[in-house]
Amino acid sequence: MELREVIGRRRSIRFVRPYKMVEPEKIQMMLEASRLASHWGNVQSLRAVAVFRDTAPKEVLDSIEGFIVGWQIRIAPVILVWYLDPNAVDVQGDRLRELLDAGALGFGPKKERVEALEKTLLPIFAAIGESLKEPGLNEVDCGQGIAQATLMAYDMGLGTCCLGTPHGEKIKKGLGIPEHCRVLLLQTVGYPAEHWEAGGQRPRLPFEELYQMNHFSTPFERKAEVVEELKRDKMITRPAPLPDREDELAFLQQALGIEPPGLL
Ligand SMILES: Cc1cc2nc3c(=O)[nH]c(=O)nc-3n(C[C@H](O)[C@H](O)[C@H](O)COP(=O)(O)O)c2cc1C
Repeated sequence: MELREVIGRRRSIRFVRPYKMVEPEKIQMMLEASRLASHWGNVQSLRAVAVFRDTAPKEVLDSIEGFIVGWQIRIAPVILVWYLDPNAVDVQGDRLRELLDAGALGFGPKKERVEALEKTLLPIFAAIGESLKEPGLNEVDCGQGIAQATLMAYDMGLGTCCLGTPHGEKIKKGLGIPEHCRVLLLQTVGYPAEHWEAGGQRPRLPFEELYQMNHFSTPFERKAEVVEELKRDKMITRPAPLPDREDELAFLQQALGIEPPGLL
């Protein structure tokens, strides 16, 4: 599938087939895609525990279940618990040295680049090291990693849904994730039980309201021909709600034994 079509097919898939396990190799592919995502200073603070419903110990499953939207967790064959290790920032100097050795940083003779890194850049980062562990840039990077894993999942015909959780502490305990880490979100992964359109493209705010050109006062012009091209390439798809969505929802809820209204 072309990237544009994968983007067009990505939407939160809440109804997955509980009986069809996701192969660990496919989860590995998602994680491989995540690992290659860009990260400030190359520190890579994004981590994940992949919980497989058929092999995880009961106490692990218990620690991620029983929350809001619990039914999504209960039917998903795999739940990725994405978390952030802020201590990755501690070895940021080494990661920058690696980048320099890899020829990814700066210009000019290597000796000068090493000097600039050691004498100028690293002391700046060292001085603000602790603040770099605070929520902010790291979360942005983690989002990029999760997005790449997500697109990989859709490219392989899987569906996922991100679920925020206020129960990070309980989850950390249950999964043995170190105390200093931050749980970011749970992502259910499975083979879709619903049609890939899942009722159609979910509504979005108008393009011009979101993006500007050169100055806040100037909305970025949305050209019709670009939109048409993206429709042809299957990135922009039919908007929700599609005519048979309510019937599809009723069918799925019954098949999966989800009590109406099925929101919790
Ligand atoms: C970081 C994040 C957290 C989310 N948390 C929840 C959640 O707790 N419960 C839920 O049902 N959906 C959750 N979602 C899914 C959004 O509701 C969904 O992305 C939105 O409705 C748009 O639909 P779409 O993903 O199909 O485009 C979350 C999505 C993201 C990216």
